[in-house]
Amino acid sequence: MTASNALDHLHDERYGDSFDRRNLDHRSWLFVGGRRRQSLAGTWRLTPDLFEEGLRQHWYRLDGTPPDARTKPWDGHPDEGYDVRVPSCWTLARPEWRHFEGSAWLSRHFRAPRRADGERIFLRIGAANYDTKVFLNGVFLGSHRGGSTPFVVELTRVLRDDNRLDLCVDNARRPDRVPMHHFDWFNYAGVYRAVDLIRTPAIFVRDLAVRWIDGAVEVEVEVSDGATGIARFEIPELRVAFDVAIAGGRGRARAKASPRLWSPADPKLYDATLAFGADRVADRIGFRTIATRDAQILLNGAPIRLKGVCVHEDDLRLGKATSDADIRRRFRHARALGCNFLRLAHYPHHERVAELADAEGLLLWAEVPVYWAVDFANPRTYRDAENQLVELIRRDRNRASVIVWSVGNENADTRERLSFMRRLASAARRWDPTRLVSAACLVNKAKKRIEDRLVRHLDVVGINEYYGWYDEDVGDLLAIGRNSRVGKPVIITEVGAEAPAGRRGRPDALFTEDKMVAVYRAQVDAVGRMDGVAGMTPWLLYDFRSERRQNRFQRGFNCKGLIAADKKTRKRAFAVLRDFYRRWR
Ligand code: GCU
Repeated sequence: MTASNALDHLHDERYGDSFDRRNLDHRSWLFVGGRRRQSLAGTWRLTPDLFEEGLRQHWYRLDGTPPDARTKPWDGHPDEGYDVRVPSCWTLARPEWRHFEGSAWLSRHFRAPRRADGERIFLRIGAANYDTKVFLNGVFLGSHRGGSTPFVVELTRVLRDDNRLDLCVDNARRPDRVPMHHFDWFNYAGVYRAVDLIRTPAIFVRDLAVRWIDGAVEVEVEVSDGATGIARFEIPELRVAFDVAIAGGRGRARAKASPRLWSPADPKLYDATLAFGADRVADRIGFRTIATRDAQILLNGAPIRLKGVCVHEDDLRLGKATSDADIRRRFRHARALGCNFLRLAHYPHHERVAELADAEGLLLWAEVPVYWAVDFANPRTYRDAENQLVELIRRDRNRASVIVWSVGNENADTRERLSFMRRLASAARRWDPTRLVSAACLVNKAKKRIEDRLVRHLDVVGINEYYGWYDEDVGDLLAIGRNSRVGKPVIITEVGAEAPAGRRGRPDALFTEDKMVAVYRAQVDAVGRMDGVAGMTPWLLYDFRSERRQNRFQRGFNCKGLIAADKKTRKRAFAVLRDFYRRWR
């Protein structure tokens, strides 16, 4: 196999059309609970490709012919890239890549897993930012869009004993993407979560949803290829075991049960299995209910106050990649604040966060990056947004810790946005009728009240307000409380102020810790006096990288963290929030 001549492509500006297939989406889902995975983590080869020569000249067609034996010149070869770790945010690997935005090729060889006749091999990528095109042994298998959700592609038909996998990953910011090209976090590049090979029988379990509804365990099953048969669901510890009739690839069944309900105080999980034909999957399930009553949020029927904090996925060393240690540190710091709740801003976080939160008893707000001025009038943008939402829901809907699906953040209240977000809210409820749907909305500062038209389509209303920082008079916050009667729970999803750790000054001096303390004191005093506030997630736990933030105190960081970017140095405002959470009932 050779690439096309380096001159053939110079005048073809439609080269990208055939690769924009977007066929790798939630419909090619594969339930992975309880499955063995062969990790492809390790050293891969990376070839930067800002001009997309690899797609233009078909580098993926180049074979392993030794350089001296090649008959045509080449400008890039998947085997000749730089060594990089996968998973990782490779923008941190070399100084010259720090602000890379565009396409790059990540390639590695692997031997096919041993498999019995009829068995199938899938590739699962935990997340790659933003558009990923998958090639195996020179064959284009498809593309995925979205920077924070897993996707799966079947390799079976083009698999050999020795294989080369080429991923062309494009992290460019674009107005039609989700998020669009303007956002307040760092645009890391990379295949930054796990990459695994997974072997399944010919007919396999594509998805398994386990719910706790009306005192019964309800199971919804999807199997591949429209298969028909009987699946067997079991939770031995609950003496629950029942058949699920599968017809045309789908089935649903329920059975009464008396589980110990999951809660932050008692994060009880049960081992569950589902077998269908030769396939068998497993998961660890916590059973709880989440609902609303007027301005209250009810966990297992009892009102709960959500004492939280916002968190980004950002780390000085790891970038947007994370680790169990990084997640557990986040949890420790949140607990030290007195939190029972985390807002995972502004995109789906690593699946280990919800798994560990299930085990440790933290509640989570999960969100898709429909952030600021998304191209609400563009149907392809909507398709990307809904697909990211469904991939998030399919991935985490068995996680008791997740109680809110948020469909966006701080969007202007326009007709196109209302239509877009209403559809997203409906999609969330269609895929998961058991959780609360929300969004972080803006308040009407002139009228001092909540009147976002999206509110009527939400179960819980998030409001981002920065009284004391961006907006001067914290008294307006109390006015909003008096003027707004939304008839449903309100969570203050963002409030905060900015200061580099250690910078002191007058309480009214911007970018000092003293100003940050003054804002937090005024905010918690006001919130403590407001009715109808079901929860609060100040912005945010740690300082984080953001290219938008370049003043003398920021230098590429948003410094609203209650802890500095070193994830050690607490700022003075940390104690103000902690003391408030201790007394807030
Ligand atoms: C906004 C936005 C955040 C941003 C924050 C800030 O509310 O939701 O993503 O970082 O304000 O201005 O720091």
